[in-house]
Amino acid sequence: MTLELSKKLAGEKAVDFVGDGDVVGLGTGSTTEYFIKKLAQRISDGDLDVIGIPTSKATERLAGNLGIRLSSLNEYPEIDLDIDGADEVDGDFNLIKGGGGAHTREKIVANASRKFIVIVDHSKEVERLGHFPVPVEVFRFCEKFVEIELGKLGGIPTLRKGFKTDEGNLVIDTRFNMDEPSVLEDRINQIPGVIDNGIFSKRRPERVVVGYIDEVKILEK
Ligand code: 5RP
Repeated sequence: MTLELSKKLAGEKAVDFVGDGDVVGLGTGSTTEYFIKKLAQRISDGDLDVIGIPTSKATERLAGNLGIRLSSLNEYPEIDLDIDGADEVDGDFNLIKGGGGAHTREKIVANASRKFIVIVDHSKEVERLGHFPVPVEVFRFCEKFVEIELGKLGGIPTLRKGFKTDEGNLVIDTRFNMDEPSVLEDRINQIPGVIDNGIFSKRRPERVVVGYIDEVKILEK
């Protein structure tokens, strides 16, 4: 319950960073839900007029049902701002994302955005990434091959059961002892058959909004 409150505080605070007329990337997950609901409220109050670029079908449904005007990355290949959650954030703002399996689209939208803000509850702050397994999106065709290759990189892979991404692919959650997130992000993506993984070490946020029980902290780089 307190975590839920922390997510809500972070998510709702993030609306302060949205400008009138912005094209905004809408992340995926429970923290972004709070952001999207608050954003919809500000739009219906007449305070803001924005276009949302959803990072998943779930977000598209939620934001669409709340009356947020939506478009696509093909229509707006460069956007003003992206707001998204994360599963882990370290002190250098490296992230692990993809708990919801949307990390491939999320990484694309974050890269297309001039500003990237991450919203998390305080339990997501870590000294070192790796307690949360790295989600790796793979083609169904080569799941076993990729599992073997992930093992060669020192990973312990587990197929996410009964799950497929919005693109119809599989996710292999992989535990790593992570010394250098940036090197690992590249190495995983070099395995043929990997579409993308949930380490965000290249496109890192400029701001992280962290919700605690009764306050919000805004961390900036
Ligand atoms: C989805 C994500 C989410 O942003 C991440 O899993 C955090 O979710 P939540 O806000 O529900 O804790 O990367 O792919």
